[in-house]
Order: sequence, then C-alpha cells, then structure tokens
Amino acid sequence: MTAPLKHFDPVTIDVALGERAYHIVIGRDVLQSLGARVTALRPGARTAIVTDRNVAKHWLDKAEASLSRSGVAVSRIVVEEGEGAKTYAGLERVSEALISAKIERNDLVIALGGGVVGDLAGFAAAVLRRGVDFVQVPTSLLAQVDSSVGGKTGINSPQGKNLLGAFHQPVLVIADTAVLDTLSPRQFRAGYAEVAKYGVLGDEAFFAWLESNHADIFAGGAAREHAIATSCRAKAAIVVSDERETGERALLNLGHTFGHALEAATGFSDRLFHGEGVAIGMVLAAEFSAELGMIGPSDAARVRHHLAEAGLPTHLQDIAGFAQEGLADADALMALMAQDKKVKRGQLTFILLKAIGRAVIVADVEPSLVRDFLNAKLQT
Ligand SMILES: NC(=O)c1ccc[n+]([C@@H]2O[C@H](COP(=O)([O-])OP(=O)(O)OC[C@H]3O[C@@H](n4cnc5c(N)ncnc54)[C@H](O)[C@@H]3O)[C@@H](O)[C@H]2O)c1
Ligand SMILES: [Zn+2]
Repeated sequence: MTAPLKHFDPVTIDVALGERAYHIVIGRDVLQSLGARVTALRPGARTAIVTDRNVAKHWLDKAEASLSRSGVAVSRIVVEEGEGAKTYAGLERVSEALISAKIERNDLVIALGGGVVGDLAGFAAAVLRRGVDFVQVPTSLLAQVDSSVGGKTGINSPQGKNLLGAFHQPVLVIADTAVLDTLSPRQFRAGYAEVAKYGVLGDEAFFAWLESNHADIFAGGAAREHAIATSCRAKAAIVVSDERETGERALLNLGHTFGHALEAATGFSDRLFHGEGVAIGMVLAAEFSAELGMIGPSDAARVRHHLAEAGLPTHLQDIAGFAQEGLADADALMALMAQDKKVKRGQLTFILLKAIGRAVIVADVEPSLVRDFLNAKLQT
C-alpha cells in the first residue's frame, strides 16, 4: 500500500474494460471540471443532469455552471430523494424527460447524486434509444466507492430490490470529495461501511490504515481522497476481472447476505441504512467464519471493534425496534436470506473470511449451521 496523498491533485483511476473502459476522477472540487471533461470526451454532445431534490439544493447549480462555462447544452431532471424514485414510475418520469430534452444517441445523461440517482439514471440511459452513454457524478460516499463504478444499473420491483436492471458502464466517473461535506453524518458513516469492506475482503494493509486514519476520512482532507481512491481501485480491479458477476465479483457482497435480510426485515426504511446493514452483516460474516474455524475469534473482534469505533451498528440488537418484531427470529431472517437474488437453487451462498483481507465465496453453506449461529447471536 502506498502512503496517503499529501496534496489535493485529482487521482485518476482507469477501469480497463476494453471498449467500455473509462476513468474515475477523484479529488476535491473536481466537479468544477465537469464541463471541460465532458467536452473533451464528447464534443458537441447535449447533456441532461438527473439528480434528486437534496442534491439539487447543494450541487446542481455548480454542475450546470461548469457545463455552461464549457458551452455544453444542459437540461435538468429532478426526482424525489430516496429509494422511492427507483421505481417504474420514476423510470417513466426520467425517460420521458430525457426524450423531451432531446437526448439522442450521441448525447450524455449525467447522474448527479447517490446510488439511487445513479441506478435510476443509468438504467434510463441504458434503455433510452437502446442505449445512451452516461456520466456518473456520485455525491454520497456509498456512491463514490461502490455504486458509481461497475455498471450495475436498475430499479426496484414491488416484489424486490434491484430486480430490473442492466449492465451499462458509465463513460466517466467524477467523484468530488468536497460534495460529501453536505452529506448527513449518518449517511457518511453508512458509506464508510463499504470502504471498510474493501479492507476486510481483500487488503489487510488498507484495513490497518483505516484503523489508524478513519477520523481523518470523516474530517475530510487527503485521507478521504486516499480512502475513496483505494476503494475505487479495489472495485475496479474486481469489475475488470468479472464484469458480469459470474465469479469473483460476488466477493463485493461481503456482509450483504445478512445485511439484505436485515434491510428487508426493517422494510428498507430509515431504521437501517444499507451501509448499516452491511456493517452488522460484515461482523456476522466474520463471526460466522470464526464459528466455522476459518479465522480466529480475535480477527472477528477486530472487524467489530473498528466498525463500532467508526460509529456503525455492529450488533443485531443495535437496530431500532429490534426486540418488537420479526428481527429477533432466526427463522424469519433465514427466510429473508433465502429470497435474496443471489441464492441459487436453495443453496445459501456466503462470503466468508479466511483472514482479514482474504474473503472467499462459500456456495453451499448448510442452513442449519446458519440458523444455530443466528440463534446464538440473538441470545447474546
Ligand atoms: N449499482 C450498484 O452497483 C449499487 C451498489 C450499491 C448500492 N446501490 C444502490 O444505491 C442505493 C443507495 O445509495 P445511497 O446510499 O447513495 O442512497 P441515496 O442515493 O438515497 O442517497 C442517500 C441520501 O443522501 C442524499 N444525498 C446524496 N448526496 C448528498 C450530498 N452530497 N449532500 C446532501 N445530501 C446528499 C440523498 O438525497 C438521499 O437522501 C440503493 O438503491 C442501492 O440499491 C447500487
Ligand atoms: Zn452495499
């Protein structure tokens, strides 16, 4: 691992996907360069910025100003904030607005927002005129380190999250670390769980660096850039090796099998943000790995300790309203895990640890072992 950067020059990461290759540009105030980068990439293209109301309040004018300075034609499409926008109705609204804005095959859709806007605008771009290019300008920490890279786009069905979608890679990602200053601390922490995930799943040295530097990442500054760049490099490497998730890309689901069940059990509500579910899920995955003798108990304790120190929930009992509902029921959680779209023919797949920094895919986990483990956790 390299030492953290001491300056604020943007970092550029290459996502080497052949004819679908693109750059991720990370740095403070790089949003100001949006217009120049768009004209360099697609001279003469029209653009439409898709964003949500929260992000629009803080950052839409700046994004538009940058495009206008470079002479780029731009229209704006503002959706409601929150997961509710990632629906058929949301897709219809955005698609119709893109058609009205005369966005054609050589033009660009710009997703300015968190993972919701990125997934929705990316999917709209994927299906508009059978595919229009798009630029990701992620504004949440989760979106900067995870959802804006890798080309997964989509919306939810009333029957489940992300059930409709397409692989559609962006042509550019611009991650301005200064925009995170307006993100709520709780949202920032939730995104941090995905940063820590990269250390836990594939890079012990990065995890150790996070243990010493997490406060500086929250404060902003060079440590933040370094953490985001390291996370994006890790994600890019995995995406390049397995773009369509036939193998290794599943490692990115560390903590997500448990986490998704917890999100579902809390109705995908504000009671548990995605990253918070991932934090608890990652601790459970580490403890389950220890239970199976794959790592020592002190490794699992180390994962929990770091996430707790960053202010994340790490126990099932940390979830608001935990005791009152189906959450305190191993069978209900098992049923929710079985609904996960990653389940193949009834077999539970877990991402488990052989060490901190060494995650493995275990495709045939015996359900009774998981049930016993969860029952024990629910009693503590
Ligand atoms: N495509 C992928 O690979 C992938 C990966 C992970 C998650 N996701 C998806 O991402 C979504 C979650 O993303 P998220 O956590 O970014 O949620 P989000 O997009 O809902 O953003 C969280 C909240 O923060 C606000 N916000 C975002 N940036 C802000 C800023 N700079 N200042 C102030 N407020 C800001 C938003 O308006 C929203 O209220 C889920 O729908 C999930 O399914 C997709
Ligand atoms: Zn996630």
